[in-house]
Amino acid sequence: MSYTLDGKVSIVTGGAGGIGSAVCRILASHGARLMVADIDLGRAETLATELRDTGAEAEAIHVDLGDESSVKAMFSTTLARYGRLDAINNNAALLTPEMAQRDLDIEHMATEDWDDTFRINTRGTMIACREALKIMTPQGAGAIVNTASNLALQGNVIQAAYSASKAAIIQMTRSIATSHGKRGIRCNAVLPGLTGTPSALAHLPQELRETVEEETLTPFLGAPADIAHLVAFLISDEARYITGQAMAADGGTSTHIPGYARLQRFFQG
Ligand SMILES: NC(=O)c1ccc[n+]([C@@H]2O[C@H](COP(=O)([O-])OP(=O)(O)OC[C@H]3O[C@@H](n4cnc5c(N)ncnc54)[C@H](O)[C@@H]3O)[C@@H](O)[C@H]2O)c1
Repeated sequence: MSYTLDGKVSIVTGGAGGIGSAVCRILASHGARLMVADIDLGRAETLATELRDTGAEAEAIHVDLGDESSVKAMFSTTLARYGRLDAINNNAALLTPEMAQRDLDIEHMATEDWDDTFRINTRGTMIACREALKIMTPQGAGAIVNTASNLALQGNVIQAAYSASKAAIIQMTRSIATSHGKRGIRCNAVLPGLTGTPSALAHLPQELRETVEEETLTPFLGAPADIAHLVAFLISDEARYITGQAMAADGGTSTHIPGYARLQRFFQG
């Protein structure tokens, strides 16, 4: 199915990252006008230049999701540049190697690590959604896509703060869809499974990677573009009847009982 995002002004937070940059490239290839928003302005500028070289309209902007005034400035700059806002993909998240080392189970959770995770992932996304709604509501139209994770659906022995912060994003998504649907705004969440980005793979123990690969129903692990295509479709007008949804793009990892591959070998050889 083909669709167009022609002229749609779209912000992608974490736009310089692995999945975010794929979202920016695919949105731009469908005609969207972009704000590549990231705490890493250098990488955001490199991507915006690359997109402009392909003929797209793209600007880079520094944003820190942990700083409310910085998030507000992202919207005022977008309005000054483009005069409207059609879509936002709230994709940025706190994914530093240090936090990956510390975010284990609740018994060993430092309160400040929990707070830092929620400050960026959940509070930052809430502020971005709120500021987007202030623009989109008077327009009577807009699409919000929040990036959660399939880990929001399942218990784990690690990443207790991260997965709770992402579960909160799913519920926030439903709240927004419910409160603002009649005002022309759609809000959906995408739930990536393990996706081959440097930050996801860099510190992943080989044994854990093999376990996830075995539990993934597709013969491959997802690439950033696999998530980006879903984001782009959810932003498009062709998705006009889809709102309040939490859609996993995880190769079916979250859809079945664990250990299915062993059962399959047992029953099917
Ligand atoms: N890659 C995966 O396996 C996977 C799986 C499930 C969910 N996700 C989600 O997908 C999204 C993108 O993940 P990724 O793998 O591309 O990560 P990434 O680290 O490549 O990208 C994250 C981006 O967010 C930016 N960022 C970090 N803190 C920020 C802040 N305070 N303000 C603004 N920007 C900030 C980073 O600079 C980076 O460019 C995240 O929300 C992540 O939780 C990823």
